[in-house]
Amino acid sequence: MNTNFEEAGLIEPSAELRAELLAMAAEFASGGDDRYREINADFDGYLRGLARYAAGVDLPPGHVPNSTFFLVHRGGIVGRSALRHRLTPALEHEGGHIGYDIRPLARGRGYGTLILALTLERARSLGLARVLLTCDTDNVASARIIERNGGVLAAQVVSHRSGKLISQYWIEL
Ligand SMILES: CC(C)(COP(=O)(O)OP(=O)(O)OC[C@H]1O[C@@H](n2cnc3c(N)ncnc32)[C@H](O)[C@@H]1OP(=O)(O)O)[C@@H](O)C(=O)NCCC(=O)NCCS
Repeated sequence: MNTNFEEAGLIEPSAELRAELLAMAAEFASGGDDRYREINADFDGYLRGLARYAAGVDLPPGHVPNSTFFLVHRGGIVGRSALRHRLTPALEHEGGHIGYDIRPLARGRGYGTLILALTLERARSLGLARVLLTCDTDNVASARIIERNGGVLAAQVVSHRSGKLISQYWIEL
């Protein structure tokens, strides 16, 4: 990995990111991954939803406050992370405190490792002493990202959603 990350950082969602986020959503969609379809369908609604989650306002039952960050490098968005402010029994099983994804064309350059490192700083700022991370056990890249950020494997359990084996890790902050 030889990417220079000096200029990289996390930023919060804003309407100014519209063009960048539409491009990111299109890149995911062209690879058959529709996780960002709402950005295309209703950009303002997407932003409002992120703001409600970050503030913990009008959340569905059982949902917890969740801050979203975008990783920006050299003026472009390369990924997104989500920081759940606390756990629920469901998140303790699968989901944990932090999720992340890197846009397809930016993968394999260390951005995944970086976005988790930077999101851990936000978790520390929030006052969390340790965070739970989960990933599919066969998601080798994600497991590596967690381990490189100090993750200690606590258990491997079966996902209620997919039936696949998932790994649960704790990271002390
Ligand atoms: C998982 C994901 C975030 C990885 O992002 P990335 O920017 O490619 O990750 P990095 O470049 O930091 O690579 C992390 C490590 O995984 C390794 N790696 C990357 N892609 C890999 C692959 N396809 N197979 C095996 N190892 C891989 C890298 O070599 C690196 O290991 P190293 O530190 O020993 O060199 C990205 O593939 C993604 O967004 N996937 C879809 C969403 C997802 O799975 N999110 C995680 C949910 S738990």
